[in-house]
Parts: sequence; structure tokens; C-alpha cells
Amino acid sequence: MAYQDIYAGWKSDPEGFWMAAAERIDWDRAPSRAFFDQGPAGEWFADALVNTCWNAVDRHVEAGRGDQLAIIHDSPITRSYRGITYLELRDRVASLAGALRAKGVQKGDRVIIYMPMVPEALEAMLACARLGAIHSVVFGGFAAHELAVRIDDATPKAIIAASCGLEPGRVVHYKPLLDRAIEQAAHKPDFCVILQREQEVASLTEGRDVAWHSFQYGVEPAECVPVEGNHPAYILYTSGTTGQPKGVVRHTAGHLVALNWSMKNIYDIEAGEVFWAASDVGWVVGHSYICYAPLIAGATTIVFEGKPVGTPDAGTFWRVIQNHKVKSFFTAPTAIRAVKREDPEGKLIGDYNLRSLKTLYLAGERADPDTIQWAEDHLGVPVIDHWWQTETGWAIAANPVGIELLPVRKGSPTRAMPGYDVQVLDEAGHPVPPGTLGAIAIRLPLPPGTLPTLWNAEERFRKSYLAHFPGYYETGDAGYVDEDGYLYIMARTDDVINVAGHRLSTGAMEEVLASHPAVAECAVIGVADSLKGQMPLGFLCLKKGVETSPEQVVGEVVRMVRDQIGPVAAFKSACVVERLPKTRSGKILRATMAKIADGEEYRMPATIDDPAILDEIAAALAGLARG
Ligand code: COA
Ligand code: AMP
Repeated sequence: MAYQDIYAGWKSDPEGFWMAAAERIDWDRAPSRAFFDQGPAGEWFADALVNTCWNAVDRHVEAGRGDQLAIIHDSPITRSYRGITYLELRDRVASLAGALRAKGVQKGDRVIIYMPMVPEALEAMLACARLGAIHSVVFGGFAAHELAVRIDDATPKAIIAASCGLEPGRVVHYKPLLDRAIEQAAHKPDFCVILQREQEVASLTEGRDVAWHSFQYGVEPAECVPVEGNHPAYILYTSGTTGQPKGVVRHTAGHLVALNWSMKNIYDIEAGEVFWAASDVGWVVGHSYICYAPLIAGATTIVFEGKPVGTPDAGTFWRVIQNHKVKSFFTAPTAIRAVKREDPEGKLIGDYNLRSLKTLYLAGERADPDTIQWAEDHLGVPVIDHWWQTETGWAIAANPVGIELLPVRKGSPTRAMPGYDVQVLDEAGHPVPPGTLGAIAIRLPLPPGTLPTLWNAEERFRKSYLAHFPGYYETGDAGYVDEDGYLYIMARTDDVINVAGHRLSTGAMEEVLASHPAVAECAVIGVADSLKGQMPLGFLCLKKGVETSPEQVVGEVVRMVRDQIGPVAAFKSACVVERLPKTRSGKILRATMAKIADGEEYRMPATIDDPAILDEIAAALAGLARG
């Protein structure tokens, strides 16, 4: 069947479509139906009983795949390589789950995971799933304060962390970050499990910390605990407009069904094949496509501890693809731009045999046509842009290669996937004609696998996503659709920016800047960057009578953002200005400032308080550019 027929088939019978997809999952109690009109936006397969770990691990052992590699850890940073079979993975996860259970972790308890790109991060996630505990993975590039905020929101019974992470040329000391976060947080976990890595042995806090290996000695391995279809599998925090991140909740059954469907139909991967998503377990791509989806499908997944460049060179991606016979490879456009910058002619590609590679997938930010062209020219395979969000957990729009390869239109992540009725709306919520820019919204209900609510914040969920356009989920992205149904995602409609494929909140950075004693007012915008897509830039108005020099304040706020949000914010520059441009009602004109910074044409906002301030902003930016 062609894409068009499958999409139409879903639209005419969504129940039938998802119940058929659900047949690929091992249920402890099969769902009586797919959609349940309950909760703020509906739920999927709510009356089923099922276990994620069983579907991702044990069932493949039962089916005779015990000797197949489930996980390959490839770490150019430590120059090491390790494979874990499905049988080994089952035993390791059952043992870890047994040890967690022995220390009191049960179904519904939260467990925070703060780990680098090691297989144990996946094992920790799967061990939680085995028990029905709800994990929340926190990205290693976040600082102690961000971890503390998540500890207070998720109130975990336990935290599983590693002694360190490894960035090129730098050891990231996780343990002091963890200790500081627990000190800052009002909630205290019962215990912490620490994976001691060779590169750094952390000192354990007596009475609270246990070592990954020793706490598993002599415990009974745990069996899979069946949970309700609408039991939360995990919480993943993502940036919103304020410093308080949004805890995206993922329900168990819909997650299983949707991810399993996506592996074959979007990524063209079947059991036994090798799939690689070069992201991090701390992001949604890591949850869905490093950990869960490839394993649910019985494929081999790669856990890559390295960077596209510098570990050791821009050929590292191609080496991994060659050595592990990767069929489908998924990364962010920024990673390809980094490779292209180091190896513009793609010479290193020629050093490797990439015959196994059939498709390159890009997501996380807009894939610019130049990057797609470069990858197509040098790799000789289709380059597929696809669009999704932490909230949806899997692609809203994609080119469904496993169904049929639709003609690629550069700049477009192609067409809506079954389950998603995507509409472009004007401010009043009316669909606009093809080619017209508008807010992108999805008609409710969202498909299985997407967020049913926010953790501890149902009202915020309604307000953030459902209130603006009744009957729709508001994506926060703006764009248009062409005559043939191809989508084009152009910009965010909120203050979220995208730095090297990482989603960051300018609001969170402004909160840090505003806490500096010399700062009276501030704004952070995202400015275009040829490598990272966007980079944050701060504007500071200092309090009257402040004696600290502007340079010193700038240096201090840069350090503060790194200390409080983390290095991943990549907040490196700010300038001091007299005033900020505002509307008469006091709203800071961030979008106009961003246009000035990017050298784009802008229209003078009709509501601006004092147009002369824009010239001052332009002058400050010119000063910054001169260094
Ligand atoms: N733990 C601790 N620190 C981390 C980290 C982690 N897991 N990941 C990144 N950081 C740090 C980096 O060391 C860097 O610190 P520095 O300021 O001391 O140099 C900072 O956060 C910014 O990191 P990053 O955004 O990775 O930038 P970079 O300049 O080191 O590398 C790229 C640039 C393009 C190579 C890199 O951003 C990249 O590989 N991007 C792909 C992104 C991706 O896969 N996104 C997932 C969405 S699909
Ligand atoms: P995240 O939740 O971190 O996955 O970030 C989601 C946001 O990243 C989306 O709302 C978009 O703004 C942006 N994004 C992700 N993929 C794409 C894409 N293929 N094209 C354009 N923007 C994208």
C-alpha cells in the first residue's frame, strides 16, 4: 500500500488502524479498544496490561534472538567498544531491577537517571520499566540547579547516576553536581546508585549512595510487572517559556504501539537490523530512538559516546556506520554541518565502506537545504528531514521510507504521519490556504505515544497546548503547507530557541540574568548561527549607580548561566544597553531584536513605545560584532 492509502485508511478508521498496529505488541491483557475519551486530551489502550521491558527485551530472547546484539556501545572518547546481546541485556536489567526493588522501588515510584552515553543508562531506563517505576532522565549537560528543579518536581525515590561523563578533553564530574542538586532540592531521594567509571571513581555518601555493582550482589532478579496501558512510562522535562521545565508524560501502551509502528514504516528497520540515532539519552530522540524503539523492534541500537567532529575526526560517523553495518542513521542537521565544516569535500567518507547505509534521517531543528544537498551528494542515499517534538515522542511529519519513499522536497519534513491531522491556522484558529504562513496545530486527539498531560501540571498542559486553539494541540511551531500537503516548519511561536539541536528556553536564561545584582532588566534572544542553527544572546540594562564595569557584569552572567543551566545552554555573549525596545504595554520586542541581529528586514512594530531604541540595539550589536 502507498502512503496516501495508509494515511486515508487511518483517517477513515483510526480505531481499526491503531488496533491493527497494537497486534505487534505482547500484551498481558489485550486492550478492548484503542482510544479512551478520558483525561485532558484522551488516552490510548488504557484498559490493557503490558510491560515495556518485556516488549523491548525479554520477548526477543523468547523468540530466539538471545544471541543477537541488542546494544553496541561505541566510544571514540574512551577508544572502547562493547556489545551486549539480548540475553545479557535481559539478565543485567533483571538484576538491576531486582536490586532497585530490594531497596523499595515499586510501580509508580519515580527514579531520576543522570548518566552519560553508556549502555547502563539504557539498562537503568529498562529496569525502571520492568518494575513499572517511572524514570526521568536528565541530560548530563545540565547543571546542578536544573537537576534540583527536576528532583523537586518528580520527587524521585532513587537517583541513578554515573561517577562522570566524558566530553572531548574534559571530564564532567557528575557526582559533585548530583550532591549539589540534592542539597539544593527540598525533596531528598531515599538512595542513589552510582556507576563508577574507570575514568573517575567518585566518593560515595554514606547511608545514601550505593555502588551500581555491589548493590546487585545476591539479590533476586526481578520479573516484568504488568502495568495499565495509561500508566506513565516516563517523564521527560523539556524547555517551555519559563525557568520551570515542562514534565512531558509518556503513557506505556501508546508508546509501545507507536514506536513499534514507526520503526518499520518510517525508519524501514526490522528485527535483526542495525539502527543508530546519534543523540543523547537525555533528549527525546535518545528515549525513543536510542533506547525504546529499536529494542521494541528487536533491532540493534548503537550507544555512541562521541561527537561528530574531534573524536577523533570528522570521519567518526562513517567509521561507526561501516564497522557496525548501520542501515538507518539519525542525527541532527547541526552535526552534519559540523562534519561538513571540517571535511567540506567529504574526503573522509571515501575512507569507509558505507554499503550498509540506506537512509540518513535528520531532525531536532530545521534541516537547511544546503546541508541536505551536501549529505545527498556525498553519501548517495536519501536524506530524510522529519519533524517532531519531545511532546509527541515520534514524528509528526516524515517521509515514510518503509512504506514508500515520497519525493524529497528540500526544506520540508514531507507529510503528516498517520495519527496526525496537521492544520495551519490563523490567529483566530481558522485553517489558512496552502502556502500561507500560520501556527501549526494538530486536530485532537493526538495519536498514541504522544503526551497525555504534564507531570503535576494538568492546568499548565491545558493552557500551554489546548487553550489557544480549541479542539487542537498547539505545536508552538509556525510554518505552512504546500498544495501537495508537504509541510514547511519555519519558526517557533514562543520564546524557545534551538541551539545545536538542543531545545532551550530564553525565559530560563533571562531568569538567571535577572538574578545578577547589577541587572535591572534583560532579554535573551536566539540569533542565527551557521553551525548551531541559533545561539543565545543577552541584552542587559544595568541598575543606576552600579559601579561594576559592563564587561565584568557580562562575564559574570555568562558564568552564571553555565553554572545554573549548564554548558549546553552555550550562552557566551551579552551586551549592555541603556533600554530595551518595548510595546506601549511593556512587552519586550524580542522577535524584532532577533531580526535586527540577523540582519533581516523588519517592520517597525505599530505598538512600539520608542522607535529610537531599535537604533541603539543595532549599534550595540554592531559593537559586539566588532568585538
Ligand atoms: N554532558 C556535559 N556537558 C555537555 C554534554 C553532556 N552530555 N553535552 C554537551 N555538553 C557541553 C559541551 O562540552 C560544551 O561545553 P563547552 O562550552 O565547555 O565547550 C557545551 O555543552 C555545548 O555543547 P554542544 O552543544 O555539544 O556544542 P559543541 O560546540 O561541543 O559541539 C556540535 C557542536 C554541533 C558538534 C554538537 O552540538 C553536536 O554534536 N550536536 C548534535 C546535537 C544532537 O545530537 N542533538 C540531539 C537532538 S537530535
Ligand atoms: P525537541 O522537543 O527538543 O525535540 O524540540 C522540538 C522542536 O524542535 C520543534 O518544536 C521544532 O521547533 C524543532 N524541530 C524539530 N525537528 C524539526 C524539523 N525537522 N524541522 C524544523 N524544526 C524542527
